[in-house]
Amino acid sequence: MKGRKPRIAVVPGDGIGVEVTNEALKVLAAAAEAHGLEPELRCYDFGAERYLRTGETLPPGALEEFRGFDAILMGAFGDPRVPDMKHAADILLGTRFHLDLYANERPVRCLSSRLCPLKERRREEIDFVIFRENTEGLYVGMGGNFKKGTTDEIAIQEDVNTRKGVERIVRHAFGYASRHCRRKSGQKPKVTMSDKSNVLRFGHDLWQRVFWEVAAENQGIEANHLYVDALAMQMVKDPSQFDVIVTCNMFGDILTDLGAQLQGGLGMAASGNINPQGVSMFEPVHGSAPKYAGQDVANPLGAILTVQMMLEHLGQPETASLIERAAIEAVESGRCTRDVGGELGTRATGDAVAALVRSLA
Ligand code: NAD
Ligand code: IPM
Ligand code: MN
Repeated sequence: MKGRKPRIAVVPGDGIGVEVTNEALKVLAAAAEAHGLEPELRCYDFGAERYLRTGETLPPGALEEFRGFDAILMGAFGDPRVPDMKHAADILLGTRFHLDLYANERPVRCLSSRLCPLKERRREEIDFVIFRENTEGLYVGMGGNFKKGTTDEIAIQEDVNTRKGVERIVRHAFGYASRHCRRKSGQKPKVTMSDKSNVLRFGHDLWQRVFWEVAAENQGIEANHLYVDALAMQMVKDPSQFDVIVTCNMFGDILTDLGAQLQGGLGMAASGNINPQGVSMFEPVHGSAPKYAGQDVANPLGAILTVQMMLEHLGQPETASLIERAAIEAVESGRCTRDVGGELGTRATGDAVAALVRSLA
């Protein structure tokens, strides 16, 4: 049950996923203690190590079991010993698909002007959210190879866009915009849809029709459209123009790494995989960064801000805001990892943010 004792499934995964999740849990414990929350955590060892040891990516019934939690927290997956990412496909994409987590909410919010890579931009100018469709598109795994390994090989990867799938993510983006306008006062909330309908004449024509239909029902919200190539350029040229962006699975994946860099790097970016009617899953945007694994250098702030998103979703906005204030203070005071200009390791950054949580509570 949501409330003072949320039940949370934790899957740290591989590489730095494990390290950043440890620090995120440290900060969760400090914030929960400060506000009298008693989260019940259940840890799962799903990841490359377990797969290599047992040959099994997930035990039977594991994804169903997740339905019994109030939220799921994941780290990251990816291990050079599993080059085809079979385990990540089953665990990460499996969770997104099986639990129908269709709205991948990825905020692009710069915590400190110091972290902004764009000349003369202040942190306030980088504050928008990308909604990535999370259950369809090129990710469904439909297709195949014919004459594989020969010079006549044909490889087909289908891009699946359904009326239901496109409509629900577009409606979700408008619903979010109407509740959380992130723009300056006096401006209407704005939803920008991005596709490649000038080339992808079938699937992205569906996105066009659905988007303008839903936009017409939402006159209080400004609607606009940019082709994805132009959107990528505008995110760098003038990120202050954006409020809510909605796009397909593959474009959302790519744009949110660009968005992460606007926040100071992949180590800073958080995300939620939301099913508004069921359990949702939260994870940082970054991967397992194998070259940094085991070195205590990975930035845990993306995972910590992911816990903030999870607490907001669990109906604990004060505790979420406490974590955010501590993260901002950590960055502003240089108590952070090298990638964002500090000198601390992963664990010391987690300790510093947890201490800030206690002192700001
Ligand atoms: P990655 O996100 O793991 O790392 C790319 C680069 O970003 C790193 O080399 C590092 O410079 C930086 N970075 C990422 N996270 C950081 C952090 N917390 N602190 C500091 N710097 C950080 O992406 P990749 O190298 O393309 O992929 C590595 C593996 O992770 C692959 O197996 C890939 O498939 C997988 N992956 C998994 C997820 C996920 O589980 N959600 C997401 C992306 C990639
Ligand atoms: C992400 C990742 C995943 C994705 C991979 C690891 C399957 O890049 O969460 O952004 O493409 O969705
Ligand atoms: Mn990605």
